[in-house]
Amino acid sequence: MSFNLDTYKREAKAVIVDDIDFDDFRDQPLSPEALRCLHYMTDVETHTVCYLRDLLVTPSHQNPRITTFLTMWNFEEFWHGDVIDRVLAVHDEINGLPRHESVRVNQGFSGNVLAPITQCLAAAVIGEDFIATHMTWGAVNEWSAHAAYGRLIELEQHATLTKILQRIQQQESRHLAFYMTEARERLERSRRAQRITRFALKRFWAPVGSTITTKAETQFILRYLFQGGAGSRMVRMLDQKVDKLPGQEGLSLVSKSVAKFGVSVA
Ligand SMILES: [Fe+2]
Ligand SMILES: [Fe+2]
Repeated sequence: MSFNLDTYKREAKAVIVDDIDFDDFRDQPLSPEALRCLHYMTDVETHTVCYLRDLLVTPSHQNPRITTFLTMWNFEEFWHGDVIDRVLAVHDEINGLPRHESVRVNQGFSGNVLAPITQCLAAAVIGEDFIATHMTWGAVNEWSAHAAYGRLIELEQHATLTKILQRIQQQESRHLAFYMTEARERLERSRRAQRITRFALKRFWAPVGSTITTKAETQFILRYLFQGGAGSRMVRMLDQKVDKLPGQEGLSLVSKSVAKFGVSVA
């Protein structure tokens, strides 16, 4: 598998919604549960620039292929948040810059100062193999985001929301393709990278967004989207995808992580 970075950098763009009539949501508003999920989702999407800050202090920033991708990735994720904010705005829900600012301020000293410093130091000690961990982490997060949008589409059955979220999903798939390609290649060529990545995932990986919001909100979205039936099947599928990465088999990563938030995948 290869990823054509030149093509991607030429084609990266804001998710297209010119043809979407946002007033559809006035005629057929979303459920309170869907709106709560969308708040969580836009918080994550618009926090991408902060995740990028923490990654640019690691060896990943020395690799121009990686930084080219991250530049476009950050741009596209920004627009994912922006379009979700437009949906929230139609419902008169809090959204936009004041909301994003409050999420950032709420990270406090730990999230805003200690996180980039500790990540910088840990990654410097690990060196080049850190990039394999970063790429694997990114792949798991993109899989999770794609799955979460898919579950919301299934649960809400709202034609306009479906159109918007499917377009976001298309871009998440492309992000995933980059992360997956890089992760697989880097893990395949380094046993040390496999061990470090396995340790990092097992010890530190948590559902996307859980580190920037309250436990109650994470519990809500995980239970709403992934508890039981089709949700559980999705979680097991995510586990299987992680298992297929070199040196990462048998982690049950996602099911163990969601269990910490009270979601069982029986
Ligand atoms: Fe996104
Ligand atoms: Fe993405």
